[in-house]
Amino acid sequence: MPEIVNHYVGFGGLMDNLHEQRANIYRSRLLLLHKAITTQAPGRVLSVGCGTGIFEYELEHEFGIHIDVALEPSEDLANDARAKGIKVQVTDAQRYEYREQSFDTILYNGSSFGFIPDTELEDTFRKNYQALRSGGRIVLTDVPAESPLGILLSLIQRYPQIAREDYQPLLEGTAFYDLHPYKPNWHPIPFYVEVLHRIGFENIDFFQTVLANPPYQNDRVEEVQEGYERGNYIAIVAVKP
Ligand SMILES: C[S@@+](CC[C@H](N)C(=O)[O-])C[C@H]1O[C@@H](n2cnc3c(N)ncnc32)[C@H](O)[C@@H]1O
Repeated sequence: MPEIVNHYVGFGGLMDNLHEQRANIYRSRLLLLHKAITTQAPGRVLSVGCGTGIFEYELEHEFGIHIDVALEPSEDLANDARAKGIKVQVTDAQRYEYREQSFDTILYNGSSFGFIPDTELEDTFRKNYQALRSGGRIVLTDVPAESPLGILLSLIQRYPQIAREDYQPLLEGTAFYDLHPYKPNWHPIPFYVEVLHRIGFENIDFFQTVLANPPYQNDRVEEVQEGYERGNYIAIVAVKP
């Protein structure tokens, strides 16, 4: 297997800054994550790709939900998370040595699974399935490829020749106003649902938030709704029978 890829070299503190600059979006995202992670008691939780650990910190301090283990391939971001008291291993979802039936919840927040190469995604989710106890859940939160924000970001990534002045006003109200590094792999939600079903996950639930179009996303905190057809941020919760 190739080396661990660090997509965020020199970006220590990034998510902490975004959290401050786009506080309403981060709050909507926290409420989304909380709703998804509490469809049942979270139990023993693994968070994959925790970044600076901001959500793990808030889950613990605001809601009393403890993250037992976190993984983060970027050393800079892992150190930021450690400074918040999160127990982090510097590795990625593919290389972590999972123990069978050792977790009740495996969480990928902020599209961290979108950084796993497509050729390794299903194998990695299979390892997650094995690592879950019966009745355990995988929780994925994402900016869907088919959402207004997803369409904007993926096209900017794919066509770097588009002049920044042509799209920057549309990004200003989003958490991507500074166009920092983001996931390289984009798929619509039904793609992930098919992969999860193939592996054996069942009872899939969906939640969504930030229904506002990009320029208005930080204007207010939004309530979580069921479904995935309209949100710029969504959560998928799938159960291992
Ligand atoms: C957009 S950030 C989200 C960070 C954090 N979960 C949040 O929501 O603020 C994606 C994270 O996934 C991490 N990542 C990248 N490739 C990964 C992989 N193969 N396995 C696990 N995490 C990965 C990145 O280093 C980054 O911290």
